[in-house]
This record gives sequence, C-alpha cells and structure tokens, in this order.
Amino acid sequence: MRVGILGSGLMGGKLGTLFARAGHEVVFSYARSKQKVERLAREAGSKALAGTPADAARDADALLLAVHWLRVDDVLQQAGDMSGKPIITCSLPMNADNTGLVVAHTSSGAEALAKKARRTKVVSAFGTVPSEVFFGVFEARRNARRPSMAYCGDDDRAKAVAATLIRDVGFDPVDAGPLRIARYLEPFALLMGQLAYEGEDGAELAYRFERFR
Ligand SMILES: NC(=O)c1ccc[n+]([C@@H]2O[C@H](COP(=O)([O-])OP(=O)(O)OC[C@H]3O[C@@H](n4cnc5c(N)ncnc54)[C@H](OP(=O)(O)O)[C@@H]3O)[C@@H](O)[C@H]2O)c1
Repeated sequence: MRVGILGSGLMGGKLGTLFARAGHEVVFSYARSKQKVERLAREAGSKALAGTPADAARDADALLLAVHWLRVDDVLQQAGDMSGKPIITCSLPMNADNTGLVVAHTSSGAEALAKKARRTKVVSAFGTVPSEVFFGVFEARRNARRPSMAYCGDDDRAKAVAATLIRDVGFDPVDAGPLRIARYLEPFALLMGQLAYEGEDGAELAYRFERFR
C-alpha cells in the first residue's frame, strides 16, 4: 500500500518507518522542519519518501494521522481532499487550553475527527500503545505470541486496511466494532500513558469492563 504519514513525530516517525520496513510505500510529512521528514525517509529505506501533507494524501491507500490535537485542523487543511480514503488516527483529544487529554463516554477524538473530515473513512488504532514499544513488537513478531491491538471504525474496507497495517507492525488486530467504541478505547491511551510515564505517582485510574452486543 501507499501510506501517507500526517505528523512525523514519535508516533508517525516510528510507525511510518515500520510500515516501510514491512514493504509499504510511505510518504512522511508534517514536522517543524523539512530536514526532519527527509531524514526519516532516508533512514526508513528505499520505500520511503518525504513530502508535504498534500503529497502524503495524493494517491494514498491509507493515511496515518499522528499530530497533537491542536494541529489536526491545520494538517487536514494542508492535506486537502482525502475523500473516500481511510484515515487511521492515533491522535487523542485535548481540552480547550491544551493542558490535558480528554476522555468521555459520550464522544471521542476519532468521532470528532470523522465530523471534521466528513468524506474520509476514519479508523481509530495505535493510540492505545506508547510509541516506545513499536520497534520491540516489530522485532518480536516472528517468534513471540503477538500482543493484541483493538481498533474500531464504521467502514469495513478502511478497517481491513487498518488491520493489515496493525498486523504488519506485529500486533494481532482485534475488531472492537464501530467508531463510537473509540469512546472506550481512548481512555486506554490515558491509562497506558499514566502507567508508562508516571508510575505510582500518577493519578489513580479505574476502568470498568462491559460486554457490548
Ligand atoms: N507518543 C505516544 O506514545 C502516543 C501514544 C498514543 C497516542 N499518541 C497521540 O498521537 C499524537 C501524536 O503524538 P506524538 O507523541 O507522535 O507527538 P509528536 O512527537 O509531538 O509529533 C507531532 C508531529 O507534529 C509536528 N508538528 C507540531 N507542530 C507543528 C507545526 N506547527 N507545523 C508542522 N508540524 C508540526 C511535530 O514536528 P517535530 O517533529 O518537528 O516536533 C511532530 O512531527 C498525539 O495526539 C498523541 O496524543 C501518542
């Protein structure tokens, strides 16, 4: 596949590199310097290119959205028309003054994105995992039991594309259902962040599991 990376930071840089190593054509875009996207493309190998968000979107079979929430409108505007294309998002919603992640059982960042980018096919994936683990999961993919990764979305074709990329990084993709299930997946990202970076000094978190039919 040709995969456009919108946001070449910790998530986009690492995932784009692994997509390229898995054999996909990757176009890195959107960092504060052109040199950074060019370096990522060079290091990711012959299957990778550097470009603008519009270059990343052009002819893409899938796009990875990996920017901070306050950059979403800007990168979508720069990418231009992405009608009909799968956008796989790991970008998490932030509060109005951009000081904390927002989780809610009545909305999600992925659903808000689907409203902003109406003609695209949004899938929520990768956001439940800290970027630090991706290379280890990729290296272990042939000899270890694969860790699961839940993803959700409303379009079956876009979900199949996301499942392929999830599998290529080394996870076992678990279809969690329609896009509104992102309301229940996004809190995992917060939980993982707290556990990974704050340890016992972090906020106390509780999560209640329910079965959805
Ligand atoms: N990191 C994680 O482990 C993790 C886990 C789950 C979900 N997420 C979510 O994934 C999303 C991306 O996170 P991240 O950690 O990858 O963030 P990040 O490393 O800061 O990457 C964001 C990218 O946007 C670029 N950018 C920022 N401002 C810009 C501007 N004005 N113009 C052009 N480019 C600009 C940054 O450029 P530079 O590279 O030049 O800084 C960077 O490439 C966030 O919504 C986050 O909540 C992250």
